[in-house]
Amino acid sequence: MGLFEGKVALVTGASSGIGAALALEFARQGADVALAARREDRLARVAREVEAAGRRALVVPCDVTRDGDCERVVAAAVERFGRLDVAMANAGFGVSGRFDELTLADYRRQFEVNVFGVMRTMYAALPELRKTRGRIGITGSVSGIVPLPITSAYSASKFAVRGLALAVCDELRAEGVSVTLIEPGFVVSEIRKVDNLGRLRETAREPIPKWLLLATDAAARKIARAVARRRREVVLTFHGKFGAWAYRHFPRTVHAFAARSVGERRSRSFRPGDPPPPDRPAG
Ligand SMILES: NC(=O)c1ccc[n+]([C@@H]2O[C@H](COP(=O)([O-])OP(=O)(O)OC[C@H]3O[C@@H](n4cnc5c(N)ncnc54)[C@H](OP(=O)(O)O)[C@@H]3O)[C@@H](O)[C@H]2O)c1
Repeated sequence: MGLFEGKVALVTGASSGIGAALALEFARQGADVALAARREDRLARVAREVEAAGRRALVVPCDVTRDGDCERVVAAAVERFGRLDVAMANAGFGVSGRFDELTLADYRRQFEVNVFGVMRTMYAALPELRKTRGRIGITGSVSGIVPLPITSAYSASKFAVRGLALAVCDELRAEGVSVTLIEPGFVVSEIRKVDNLGRLRETAREPIPKWLLLATDAAARKIARAVARRRREVVLTFHGKFGAWAYRHFPRTVHAFAARSVGERRSRSFRPGDPPPPDRPAG
């Protein structure tokens, strides 16, 4: 019997990377899945995989930065499947660049998706999750534990999400709704090929060495298990756990290394029309 047998899961950011793999993992574990993101054609592809795994899929185009979109996804899921047990607030991207190269608009764009998009998903899903004593999953980042230069926008957004998740977790406990914060570390996905405006640069290269990347389906299995067990906070990768440990115990050393690396790395920020960046944040 699967971990989510007979349940209904909603995943934002289900059109690629971690969200797509997670939608499929929920299906393998017995759930019907509502798939939300902006690219409908990509969602349709994931939906076919969910159906091939023997579960029902619903595609609902959604931009988590738009008020009302997440409510539409929840309403459509409940209309089609009759209930909602899991809401995975996973949609996100990374703005990179030094503070003095970025603008308030860059930070706002980052927060609209990574923070307010998560909150929109939670507000929309909560009434239904209260009925089922359900589960909220939030994809944070190790960048929400370890702040590094050039990633201040992304890191600040993930610190915000971490505070949100860990505080709300205790507020909802009495109602039987759990909140699980996932901090992946480096996972195979498209995130490091997406620019500061949220557009995918197909030809951008993955800057993280292969040996350091966790496979997407392995990440999805770990996330599904953590959400099923109602864990509070889970770092997925060994390097992520090590980074979090090192920062907790030796923050000054980590900051000293980070400061030195700034001088050595050229900025990765870029503007529309610029060539694709050499690498991207996140982890
Ligand atoms: N991969 C990693 O190494 C890593 C590490 C730490 C944390 N994370 C976190 O994992 C989550 C998933 O990222 P990923 O790595 O799987 O990257 P990805 O492959 O680029 O997937 C990002 C997903 O978010 C969706 N999305 C972006 N903006 C959206 C918006 N405004 N409205 C709705 N959906 C939106 C994208 O779909 P559309 O473009 O179709 O809308 C896509 O499905 C993010 O929160 C990211 O911060 C990833």
